[in-house]
Amino acid sequence: MNDTPRSVVIKGTGSYTPANIKTNNDLASTVDTSDEWIFTRTGIKERRIASEKETASDMGASAAQRALEAAKLEASDIDLVIVATITPDMPFPSTACLVQTKLGITNAVCMDIEAACSGFVYIMEVAASMIRSGRYQHALIIGTEKLSSILDWEDRTTCVLFGDGAGAAILGPLETPGVGLLDFTLGSDGAQGDVLYMPGGGSANPATADSLNDRLHFLKMRGREVFKLAVKVMEQAAQEILEQNGLEPDQLSCLIPHQANLRIIELLSSRLNVPMERFYLNLEKYGNTSAASIPIALDEAIRSGRMASGDYTLLVAFGAGLTWGAALLKTP
Ligand code: ACO
Repeated sequence: MNDTPRSVVIKGTGSYTPANIKTNNDLASTVDTSDEWIFTRTGIKERRIASEKETASDMGASAAQRALEAAKLEASDIDLVIVATITPDMPFPSTACLVQTKLGITNAVCMDIEAACSGFVYIMEVAASMIRSGRYQHALIIGTEKLSSILDWEDRTTCVLFGDGAGAAILGPLETPGVGLLDFTLGSDGAQGDVLYMPGGGSANPATADSLNDRLHFLKMRGREVFKLAVKVMEQAAQEILEQNGLEPDQLSCLIPHQANLRIIELLSSRLNVPMERFYLNLEKYGNTSAASIPIALDEAIRSGRMASGDYTLLVAFGAGLTWGAALLKTP
């Protein structure tokens, strides 16, 4: 447990999801799948799809605007912007710099961090540490994804799982010790990088006519392996952070897991022996939105009153890399 007097707390959250809904039945009209197959294997019913012109930075800026309003802060109060995304508007400049300009934030350090679906938990720890150092006051952290732009819409094993959206939080200091973002545990295992990746578009396979023909610019996944690894590392991260803080799973009022697959979350629930009712779930509506998944769920959980004063909340994620992480929160 971090015992420095300067707590770092969530000052406000916001989220944004595109209006366009793609249902399982819509997908069944383009690939060989069915609502029944998708729902029973994943718990997903529908997902949001951004318009052609809408970018990760547009969605991130919309979520961030709502977070600023909730925090009752102005763009001029923000001195740090960190974005987690695997679908940046472009390789550079960073999506954080693009969001900065869209929101009129003039005096901030801006950067992107890439840890796939674990990205939001990663940037939360980075931002919290920078605020705790005393050098930064208010961080805007954003998970935003336009996964529809890297999905192979002819591959039924992947295109049914993902969706678009963004979530944001403003973090800031509080001189009351022992509340807010209490602790983190993060992990990575690059040896598992080939279970989930996108081969094209970087320096290994720059865009060429061949790379397009070979469909290298789409997400590739070995679903069964990802499933097993996900259950293992999410349980490990959750147990580790609880142990580090002398807490039992039963003391958690709310768990916000990465919203990838209901069956993964059900296994986590039984392994931790925490009932499913304590888990905040929205994957039925949005599918897996990668780095946006946890902050969208966090925003909905806070706005629906799921995190009362004194409650312990656990955020727990896994993603490509392989990466994983957990954050322990105590509502002030
Ligand atoms: N519709 C119908 N049939 C399908 C579909 C589909 N959409 N997709 C696959 N199938 C078929 C397969 O071809 C296979 O057919 P076969 O037996 O004739 O070969 C059969 O269904 C079973 O396929 P499996 O892959 O074994 O199905 P499984 O029960 O493992 O479910 C799933 C697949 C849903 C992908 C599951 O493995 C999973 O959720 N894995 C985790 C994925 C995940 O969470 N990824 C996100 C990672 S986070 C990030 O960083 C982006």
